Amino acid sequence: QNAIYLAGTQGIVPKLPVDFATLEARAKDAMPPAVRDYVMGGCGDEFTQDENARGFHRYGMVPRMLVDGTTRDLSIELFGRRLPSPIFMSPIGVAGIATPDGHGDLAAAKASALTGVPLMASTLSNDPLEAVYEATADTPAWFQLYTPRDPELAASLVARAEAAGYEAIVVTLDTWVTGWRPRDLNAGNFPQLKGAVLQNYFSDPVFQQRLGCAPADNPAAAIGLWVQSFGKVLTWSDLPWLRSLTKLPIVLKGICHPDDARRAVDAGIDAIFCSNHGGRQANGGIAAIDMLADVVAASGGVPVLFDSGIRSGSDVVKALALGAHAVGIGRPWLYGLALDGAEGAAHVLRCILAEADLLMAVNGCPTIEAVRAEGVRRL
Ligand code: FNR
Repeated sequence: QNAIYLAGTQGIVPKLPVDFATLEARAKDAMPPAVRDYVMGGCGDEFTQDENARGFHRYGMVPRMLVDGTTRDLSIELFGRRLPSPIFMSPIGVAGIATPDGHGDLAAAKASALTGVPLMASTLSNDPLEAVYEATADTPAWFQLYTPRDPELAASLVARAEAAGYEAIVVTLDTWVTGWRPRDLNAGNFPQLKGAVLQNYFSDPVFQQRLGCAPADNPAAAIGLWVQSFGKVLTWSDLPWLRSLTKLPIVLKGICHPDDARRAVDAGIDAIFCSNHGGRQANGGIAAIDMLADVVAASGGVPVLFDSGIRSGSDVVKALALGAHAVGIGRPWLYGLALDGAEGAAHVLRCILAEADLLMAVNGCPTIEAVRAEGVRRL
């Protein structure tokens, strides 16, 4: 990733911008209106979405001098694997709407393969989860589950993910119904988005059995069945059932309250994912980064993953300093994907990593342990 920095210092202008604000402006112009509303939008007046990013400005690092930062180690251990960096690609459903060929999920997986940054592959993929896994090549991948109401369909998706080679199941808790998203509601976008082909669902044998025909033979009925099957309301009493579906580590995504983290850890959950879905599910909430330290403290050493508002390498380092074990990149990689497919998403991930790496060097914190020990000051 340092190649981007070196090229820039030699006067070579990169194909895509290296910062989030310029990238977002370029992506905004490039995406068709419905895609733009869906991807860029959040709930209500988007206070929480904006706060997520603004929240990082409330924390500051203090550099340390006379430390040899010429070599850095950004690797982490997670789910029994050593990973080269502490970032991953957060799940983004129907990513296919962001690329002209409709195969954005495969392109995202290719970006993962190109960078070694793991992909948390969404249930709502326009390509079957097996094909997405194949495209991640040697990079580990995790499967994000939107739990269907039909328990056999849920079991089938998890079994397919395990058989395909995914190494963890990430259960998203906050999206059994979509939030109040004015941009999409005002523009009437939802039917168009539902029309996006959801091949992962459609390729499922239990789904096809319920439908009684091949989805291609009756697309309207397939979309209807998808809408009907989406969104089981999970409660604490469902955790043993989820556990019974797989031997893989289970991660709960969407935990912001420390009491919920504590209860999940007590129930034997393998990792907590502190996230408010980028402000797409509930408006009026506090920035996710402001809850991170409390969630980490309540998790008693169980790894805490984090996303919502990460826009740069310095945001990554701040989240690590606040105790995140690994940090998820969401909208930024999708903007890269919309602008230049797999290469664009890979470029964004490389820029974020290069900035984090350089920052750790100049701050005199060449390891993640040093970043954590140094911490951040609340401004
Ligand atoms: C998402 N997110 C999401 N989360 C999830 O668990 N499954 C999914 O399918 C999706 N789909 C999705 C689509 C789009 C267009 C966006 C922007 C987000 C939420 C995502 O994983 C992550 O939590 C947020 O994107 C984090 O916020 P920022 O940093 O992207 O603002």
